[in-house]
Amino acid sequence: MCGIFAVVNDKTNQASQTVLEGLKKLEYRGYDSWGIAIKSAASKLEVEKHVGKIGEAKTSLPEGSLAIGHTRWATHGGVTDANAHPHLDCTGKLAIIHNGIVENYLEFKEDLIKKGHKFSSETDTETVAHLIEEKIKRLPLEKAVFETFNLLVGSNAIGVIDMETETIIACRNGSPLAVGVDEANQQFFLGSDVTAFLKYTNSVHFLEDGEAVVMSRSGVKLYDVKSGKEKPLTLQKLDWKLEDAEKSGYPHFLLKEIMEQKETIAKTAALNETEIIKISESIRNGDKVVLLGCGTASYCALAGKYFLAQAGIESQAYGGYEFLPFSGFANDKTVVIAISQSGETADTLIAARAAKKAGARIVSIVNARGSTLERLSETVLSVGAGPEIAVVSTKAFTAQLATLYLLAKACANKYDEGKQRIKNFKEILDRWMNQDLTDRLIELAKNLIDQEHAYLIGKHLNYPAALEFALKIKETAYIHAEPFAAGELKHGVITLIQKGTPCFVLASNDDVKGEILSSAAELKARGGKIIGIAPFRSEEFEEAVQTPDLGELTVIPNIIVGQFLGYFLGVGRGADPDKPRNLAKSVTVK
Ligand code: G6P
Repeated sequence: MCGIFAVVNDKTNQASQTVLEGLKKLEYRGYDSWGIAIKSAASKLEVEKHVGKIGEAKTSLPEGSLAIGHTRWATHGGVTDANAHPHLDCTGKLAIIHNGIVENYLEFKEDLIKKGHKFSSETDTETVAHLIEEKIKRLPLEKAVFETFNLLVGSNAIGVIDMETETIIACRNGSPLAVGVDEANQQFFLGSDVTAFLKYTNSVHFLEDGEAVVMSRSGVKLYDVKSGKEKPLTLQKLDWKLEDAEKSGYPHFLLKEIMEQKETIAKTAALNETEIIKISESIRNGDKVVLLGCGTASYCALAGKYFLAQAGIESQAYGGYEFLPFSGFANDKTVVIAISQSGETADTLIAARAAKKAGARIVSIVNARGSTLERLSETVLSVGAGPEIAVVSTKAFTAQLATLYLLAKACANKYDEGKQRIKNFKEILDRWMNQDLTDRLIELAKNLIDQEHAYLIGKHLNYPAALEFALKIKETAYIHAEPFAAGELKHGVITLIQKGTPCFVLASNDDVKGEILSSAAELKARGGKIIGIAPFRSEEFEEAVQTPDLGELTVIPNIIVGQFLGYFLGVGRGADPDKPRNLAKSVTVK
C-alpha cells in the first residue's frame, strides 16, 4: 500500500509535475492523500500535501529538478493533510516518504520528543525523519539513513530527499521499490512500481530486500543497507510499453483491462510450458498440492482446486490469511502454488514463507514483475498480462486461471489439448466481447442500478466463478452481492429471497446443469428475479446473458460478465471504477 515516486535531474525542471504524473499511475496503491516535496531554486524544500485522490489535481510548487512524492493508504494516523507524506524533519532540510508500517516507532518517538523534536503528524513515518535528523549530527547522510533503516521493524520502503546534498536515498525491506535509469537524459527515477516511470525509461533495477539506492545528480549507486557496502547496479530492460500503463482511449483502466483479455488469456498458452510440465510431473509423482491467494487470487486458487480435481489430483485451497494453522502440515513433498497479481500481498507472502520454512516447494503465479513473491519462489509462472492498473483485478485473474488450467491439463497428460483450448480464447473472445454484449450488459445494469442486494449461485467450477463475479459487483458497484454454492441454498440462505430479489445463476453445459436449474427454480418460486449467466437458454431465466460454450472453461466468460457488470453498475452509480473506496491494489500490510 502507498505509492512512492521520485525523480533526480528532471529535464523539464518541472519535477513536481513529473512526480504528480507518476503518482497518478501509483494511485491504485492508495488514495487517501498525496504529497510532494521539491528542492526549489531558493534552496528550500517546499512541500505540498492534500487529502483525497489526485484525479485532475494540479500542484502550485515552484520549479526544480529534484522531487519526491507519495500517495497514501492510511495506517497510522487519520486521513488528514498533516498525516499525508512527505514528512519533514525539524530542520526542514530533509523529507521522507514511506510505504509500510514501522512496527516499533513508539520505541523511538518518546525519546525523540524528550530530545526536543517537534512532531507535526500522528504517523509512524515522521519518527523516521527525526531519527535520521538525530543521526545526521554525527554521521554522513547515507550512513544516517542506512543506520536508521536498520532499526525499523516491519515491512518498509522509504525515500528520503536531502536538500543540502541534493540526494534521494531509498531503502527496501519488504515493500517494493524499483529504480529507473534514463541514460540518454541522465534522469533517474524511483517508484513503488515501474509503471510510474515507464514513460521515461524501461531500464530498471528492482531492489531486493536489504538494498538501498543513493540517487545523486551524478548517478545511481546501489548499496547493501546492513553492511553499507556498495554493490554493482544491474539494470534490466523490461518489455513493457508505455501504452500498457495508459488508458489508450478508454474512459477507465478497468474497461481497458477487461477488453485486453481478448489477448491476455490466449497469450498464457505461449508461456511457462517447460516449468508447467516439470511441476505437473512432481505433482503426478505424489507431491501434495496447496493453493494460496487473497481476494480475487483466493478464488483463482479455489477454481484451480476444481481444475486439478478434474485431472485426478487432490489439492487444498486457502486464503493466505487463514493458512498458518495448517502450514505445519507442509513438507518437502508439498508444492505450494501461491497466486498473486502483485506478488506483494502481505498475507500471501506470510503464508508462502511459512510453507517454505516447513520444507514446501513454492511455485508462484504472478503478474507484476520483480516482486517479493517471485524472489521467494523456486519456480515462477509469470502470466504476462501486462501492468494491471485498476484496483479491481480482471486480466491478471483470468491469465492466472488459464495458467492453472494448463497446469491441471499437464497433470492429466493433456497439456497440448489445454494449450490449444487456451489459444482459441483470442478468436472466441474477439467474437463474443462485442458491442452487442456490452449493449446487453448496459441494459441489464440499468435494470439493476438501484438494487442494494443481489445473490449468486454456482455449482462446482461455477461456485468459485460466483465468488469472483460477486466480488466484482461488491468492489466496483458497492452493491451487497452474496455468492453461494447452489447446494447451500436450502440450508438457510433461501430465507433472504423476496419478490424481485436479483439472483444470478452461473451455469455451464456440465453434468450439474440440471441441479443448478433446479436451484434457480427454487429461487424463482420464492419471487427471485433470475438472471442466467450461461451458454444456454432456460425457462427459469427471467433475464439472461449468453456466454460461449467452452466446457469447463465456460467459467471464464461467465466471470467476464461479472467484470463488465461491475464496471457498468459502478459507473452508473457514480463510483470510481479504477479506485473503489477503501481499497488498495496491493495490501502489503497484515
Ligand atoms: C487487494 C485487492 C484485490 C486483490 C487482492 C490480492 O485486496 O483489492 O483486488 O485481489 O488484494 O492481490 P494480489 O496482488 O495478491 O493478487
